[in-house]
Amino acid sequence: MDNKMKDIVLGIWDNPNELLLAEFKKKNWTSHNIPLTRTISTMGDAVPLIGNDRRMQIIKNTLRFLKKGELSGLKLIDLGCLEGGLSFEMACEGINVVGVEGRVLNYEKCVLLKNYYSDLSNLNFICSDVKKLSKNEHGVFDIVLCCGLLYHLDNPMSFIDILDDITHDDSILFLDTHIAPSDMDLDSCIFKNDLSHFLELKYNNISYEGRWYDEYSKEANGSDNEWAAVSNPKSFWLSFDSLVKSLYYGGFRRIYNMYGGFDIEQEFELRKKYSRLYCFATKNNII
Ligand SMILES: C[S@@+](CC[C@H](N)C(=O)[O-])C[C@H]1O[C@@H](n2cnc3c(N)ncnc32)[C@H](O)[C@@H]1O
Repeated sequence: MDNKMKDIVLGIWDNPNELLLAEFKKKNWTSHNIPLTRTISTMGDAVPLIGNDRRMQIIKNTLRFLKKGELSGLKLIDLGCLEGGLSFEMACEGINVVGVEGRVLNYEKCVLLKNYYSDLSNLNFICSDVKKLSKNEHGVFDIVLCCGLLYHLDNPMSFIDILDDITHDDSILFLDTHIAPSDMDLDSCIFKNDLSHFLELKYNNISYEGRWYDEYSKEANGSDNEWAAVSNPKSFWLSFDSLVKSLYYGGFRRIYNMYGGFDIEQEFELRKKYSRLYCFATKNNII
């Protein structure tokens, strides 16, 4: 943690706003276990604290490596930020963070987090559909966290054009996403019943392959699934090749598939079961 941020956070932990602390307890936290004092967190002992989460550690370590430890003052956007946990952790590194969340129910938790950590002036949230982001309105970012979001969009190719718009030549894009399993891998994928057959979509006259994913098939009403898409009932999961192609044509020409976050045999299994991909991409060859 950045030293200045550490002083602020420890100050809040040791002298918490009890009224706001009570508000945290009233909310249903579904994923991000965010520390609130030295002993209290949003989800208690149920899951690791967000700072100890494997994915969070991989992102932080990779960033420190790529930016040679100089994270303070960078601008980061956290897309589909849910409960704000990744944004909070990044702000603790001294990074200027904007978390973007399109679902009001989740955004309200982010606002509570912001109010609780109000002295972290570098932690901010907006409530918006990510499809509406633009350089003109939101500026450009050094780092983009696109975690658990791309596979909730109906046109991921056009969204990658938006990512191109809000980044510069040295920006780093982290992508943590599902990809469409091949026919051979479909059976091992736990989402197989919600995925269509393989098909082709055209975008800017280029063909992309993937499968439609039914966002709300398991719910009576999609609005009560806090992790789902906010503005489309179906999402398009790109195949691995098509995802790489869309990043490439979207301006992110260096694409690094990240292995080694877990025990490698376990990682192969997890990737098959969840059809998940972790990568980062840049426009320039930064390594
Ligand atoms: C699976 S959760 C991922 C949360 C978080 N990024 C993470 O990786 O832990 C997907 C989040 O994206 C949000 N979301 C989905 N579609 C969105 C959109 N078009 N615009 C903004 N947020 C969206 C959902 O409300 C949810 O909070």
